Amino acid sequence: MSVGSGTGHGKVILLGEHAVVHGQPAIAAGVSRCVRVTIRRASPAPAAELRPALAAAAAVVGDIDIDGLAVSIEGDLPVAVGLGSSAALSVALVRGLAAFQRRALHQGEVARMANEVERVFHGTPSGVDAAATSLGGVLWFEAGPPPHAEPLPPAGPIPMVVALSGTRHHTGHSVGELRRRAEALPQVYAPIFHAIGELVRAGRTAIEDGAWPLLGELMSMNHGLLRCCNVSTPVLDRVVEDAKRSGALGAKLTGAGGGGAVIALADGSPDDLAARLVGRGWEAFVA
Ligand code: MEV
Repeated sequence: MSVGSGTGHGKVILLGEHAVVHGQPAIAAGVSRCVRVTIRRASPAPAAELRPALAAAAAVVGDIDIDGLAVSIEGDLPVAVGLGSSAALSVALVRGLAAFQRRALHQGEVARMANEVERVFHGTPSGVDAAATSLGGVLWFEAGPPPHAEPLPPAGPIPMVVALSGTRHHTGHSVGELRRRAEALPQVYAPIFHAIGELVRAGRTAIEDGAWPLLGELMSMNHGLLRCCNVSTPVLDRVVEDAKRSGALGAKLTGAGGGGAVIALADGSPDDLAARLVGRGWEAFVA
């Protein structure tokens, strides 16, 4: 019996979410937490909520009839908290269907196809999530067209911690609302997106040089600008403040905001920072 499996990893956006939808660069990184799908010909058919994504993946990978395909999903990636679960699922489905068909895909094809599938979850993705969840590592990303993803090797391991706010979000809603506000007031929003682009460029140098205090400063500044854009929440702001009080060099929301996760840069051991955040009542882990 034919079986295909595929894995997609989660991601964090270190700098530049939202502004990347508006033409600025972003820096993202893969995380080890992942989603894994196994696809086989069997009944029952795929669950109704998975059908649109599976159909989109089947259309981009090849002409695959999804009727009679059963899909099982496992993994440890939290869902709908800004860690790229929909992109990771898209990557896993693309890889799983390709494996099911005994077809080899190169990394760039997986990212491109997964971004098509991501449209099912949120209408106009920039492509940064699909790139980070399929390519892994630290990435410099520009939406283009054409999209451009390039490895950005850090000077050393980035001591990053993820903390969950305990609230969920909806990326499509958050991106759509900000687009509507930015279109209504372009003279106000364009300079904010431009400033985020500038701090992403400065962040690139900080990552290449291992200048973590500067990277932390830029992350906190990025959070402030995202707050200005009204995509943060009081709970996310509390997690950011708690991370700073726990000794982080900087902290920010990661992903679309409106709920979800915060990343915090440790000044020293990320395990210690994660433990301090857990002590303050947040679920936290080293990225
Ligand atoms: C979501 O992880 C990142 C956003 O910039 C949306 C996108 O780039 O598609 C908010």
